Parts: sequence; C-alpha cells; structure tokens
Amino acid sequence: MSNKPKIGILFGQENTFPQAFVDRVNEKQSTFPAEFVSIEQVEQSVPTDYAVIIDRISQDVPFYKAFLKNAALTGTAVINNPFWWSADEKFFNNALAVQLGVPVPKTILLPSKERPDDTNHNSFRNLKHMNWDGIFKHIGFPAFMKPHAGGGWKSVYKVDNPEQMYKAYDETGQLVMLYQEAIDFTDYFRCYCIGGKDVRIMPYEPRNPHHLRYAADMKTTGDAGKKLLKTMTEYVLTLNHGLGYDFNTVEFAVRDGIPIAIDFCNPAPDADVNSVGQENFDWVVEAAASMAIERAKKAQKGKDNLTWGTFVRNSITGEIPAVAKVAKETPPEKEPKATKPEKAAKVEVKEEKPKKSKKAKA
Ligand SMILES: Nc1ncnc2c1ncn2[C@@H]1O[C@H](COP(=O)(O)OP(=O)(O)O)[C@@H](O)[C@H]1O
Ligand SMILES: [Mg+2]
Repeated sequence: MSNKPKIGILFGQENTFPQAFVDRVNEKQSTFPAEFVSIEQVEQSVPTDYAVIIDRISQDVPFYKAFLKNAALTGTAVINNPFWWSADEKFFNNALAVQLGVPVPKTILLPSKERPDDTNHNSFRNLKHMNWDGIFKHIGFPAFMKPHAGGGWKSVYKVDNPEQMYKAYDETGQLVMLYQEAIDFTDYFRCYCIGGKDVRIMPYEPRNPHHLRYAADMKTTGDAGKKLLKTMTEYVLTLNHGLGYDFNTVEFAVRDGIPIAIDFCNPAPDADVNSVGQENFDWVVEAAASMAIERAKKAQKGKDNLTWGTFVRNSITGEIPAVAKVAKETPPEKEPKATKPEKAAKVEVKEEKPKKSKKAKA
C-alpha cells in the first residue's frame, strides 16, 4: 500500500470507460496511482485518499453524492463539482444560456401535472392557472416536452397540437417539465467538453436508431462549415465555463446556420465504446486522463479544489451574466469579462458508428 494521493473513478453499470481511464492514467504517470474508488466508512470531515475523483454515477446514488461532498470539503477535486451538480437543472441552464448569449429553443417551465407527495391544493396557492393559449402561441408547434431534470431520453415527447400535448402531459406524473419549441434542424451534433478546454464535436443523427446515431456526416460544408465549428466550440466553452462542468456534453441542433443548444446538462455523459465508437472513446479516455492528472498536480491539500462556474464566481461581486455581457459588448466601459474562453479549443469532427446515446448506466 502506498500513501500517495490517488486518482479514482466512481461508476455504476458501465463497463468500458472506467477501466480504460484507469489504465491510461497509470500509463501516463505514476505519481498519482489510478484505481476504482473504494469506499469503506464515510465519516464527516475525514478526507479520502484521493486527490481526484471522477464521478460517473452519483446522479443515481444519493449516498455517493453525500460521500463526494464530504470528499470535496476535505480537499478532493471531485469531477464534476457535486454541489453544482446537485443544484442545476435544464431550465436554469437554459436561462443561463440566454444570458450568456448562447441560442436555445424558446422554453417555458411547467409545474408537475400531479402534486408532489404530501402536498395538497393549498401547497399551490401561489400558482395561477396556466394560460395554455398564450403558451401554445409563444412556443408554436411542433414542440418538445421533457423533464426539467432528466436524461437518457426518458419522458421526452414531441407534440404537434394541443391535444397531443395535454395527453403527453397527463403521462408525466410528478415530473416538472420543460415545454419548448422544436428545432427543425439540418445538422445535429454532440460535443464533449473536458476540463473546460478540450472540445470534440461529433455529428449525430438523433432520428436514426440508437446504434446508428453516430453514423452521421456534417452536412454544412466549406466556409459555412468552418464557421459553424468555430461557433459551436465557442458556445461549448461558454456554457461549460458558465456552469463549471469539467466533463459534460452539449448537443446542438443547427437551424439556418445557427447552432441552438438543446441538451447541455450531461455531467455523466455516455462514454461507452459500444455507443460512441472507438475513435470517440479513445479521445474521451485520453482527454479525461490528462485532465485528471493535471487536476491532481494542481490540487492543494485541504483546499477547495473544485471547479466553480462563472455564474457562481461572479455572484461574489453580485454580477449576473446578462449584465456582464452587456458590459462586455459596450467597449469603453472597464467591466470585467465574464465568459470568454480562456484557451483555444482542440476541435475534431468525427463521424462515428455505434450505438446508443444515453448516460453512463446506473
Ligand atoms: N427542442 C428540441 N428541438 C429538436 N429536437 C429536440 C428538442 N429537444 C429534444 N430534442 C430531441 O430529443 C432528444 C432527447 O432530448 P434531450 O433534451 O437531449 O434529453 P435527454 O437529456 O433525455 O437526452 C434530443 O437528442 C433531440 O434529438
Ligand atoms: Mg440528450
């Protein structure tokens, strides 16, 4: 047994990424041995042996989330930040995107169709009746309805008229839902973002069956294609800097040449070789291993070694992103800049084969 600080990975049912990650970290260096995280007793304010933990599973295991917050408090660089991951959801993230200047579909938040357990009509005294006509007019048809804190394509509905919308809404139980305009796209992409700087843009065809979703080509070509890649890279970095995610994917639907961010709250994105394909897999393993080593080197014992997004960091000065953005766009003012990418991204466009698009399995 060595008492060197370690790099660990915490995961669930996924079978390919964790081992490849551990092997690659150990191949690249030996200062920080990598292993599967091993948990025995979790005691308040007692540090772990890990300089870095890559978390692929705490969204499904609340015990792990609490373990990771305690680990973070005692100096472990937990990736992704477990506090932020407990706090955000898709509606907030969409709202933040608007303020950061990243296009997103027009979106409304709907209260859950059924009341949460242990509530009654009095619990909703502050809520007026929904103005459905106004909502339908604003969002238009077709529209998407999906959970505000969901993933893995669960409870995602595409509706063409009010009747379909009401019928779908009836099925959603206690889920708080987003209701948003459907983007009729010419190109669709999923983009990994690792360490707030490495970006991989993957053409993706969500209308294909699962196993063929990465078997897609980018349709925009020439200068327009180059511009699109550059814009997406900027948006990916802006969103991830704003949110403070170290490991995330962003999906874009491209309409009239404009990439519109659809899904960018994926802190445990699918990285299975059988879904993303060998080349994307190799890229993620390499980028994640490099990031983990870099973070282990930077980690300071007993300090907060988490990444916090610009949204949280700017809150110290009370600055909200929209204000920062306006200030940035008005040159002579000397306001601090909020979200500009700090480093150029590495962009690789990949068309890939295999299989399904879902998050790491619980
Ligand atoms: N507003 C939208 N316009 C067009 N397609 C959408 C929209 N919202 C969702 N989709 C489609 O539905 C899929 C699942 O929705 P998404 O927001 O990615 O949810 P999840 O987090 O469950 O993956 C997306 O990959 C995309 O193909
Ligand atoms: Mg998605």
